[in-house]
Amino acid sequence: MNIGLIVYSYTGNTLSVAEKIQNQLQAQGHTAIIERVHASNEDPQKNRLDKTGSLTQAPDPLPYDALILAAPVNGFSLAKIMQDYLASRPGLAGKPVRLFVTHHFPKAWLGGSQTIRQFDKLCAANGAKVEATAIIDWSSKKREQEIAELVNRFSQF
Ligand SMILES: Cc1cc2nc3c(=O)[nH]c(=O)nc-3n(C[C@H](O)[C@H](O)[C@H](O)COP(=O)(O)O)c2cc1C
Repeated sequence: MNIGLIVYSYTGNTLSVAEKIQNQLQAQGHTAIIERVHASNEDPQKNRLDKTGSLTQAPDPLPYDALILAAPVNGFSLAKIMQDYLASRPGLAGKPVRLFVTHHFPKAWLGGSQTIRQFDKLCAANGAKVEATAIIDWSSKKREQEIAELVNRFSQF
């Protein structure tokens, strides 16, 4: 399969997980390409205040059979740049989509759970078929185990 991983990551945590999934997918013989979402101002401290936001790179999902979308939690919400990307109505209609977020706190209920629900709704509103979601609690002692489980689960096609 041709799988696109569409990622917004500011400090690299989310990207590092996406790269592990990409490696696993490629080892299984899939084509797996990471496409970054970029904006003119990527600093999450500032772009949350910048209501106009401007995406400079909005990957086209069309070529892919399936998609994995990923972004961090910022202020108990999905990172604004990923929100802006989904608001730009990329062509997700009918695409099977898997989603994950990374966040700082050790427990999913400290922002991760509500953010993944928000992510799920925004993708579904775009017509995507959301088939799996996950949260990585970055300061959890079980982080590496959580990542390994996510990589394994998201690499099954
Ligand atoms: C402005 C800002 C707001 C954040 N808000 C939250 C939050 O509400 N809850 C949380 O658990 N982590 C929060 N974080 C931490 C990030 O979600 C976490 O470090 C994430 O793994 C960063 O992903 P990245 O390296 O891919 O950018 C915040 C980070 C920044 C910079």
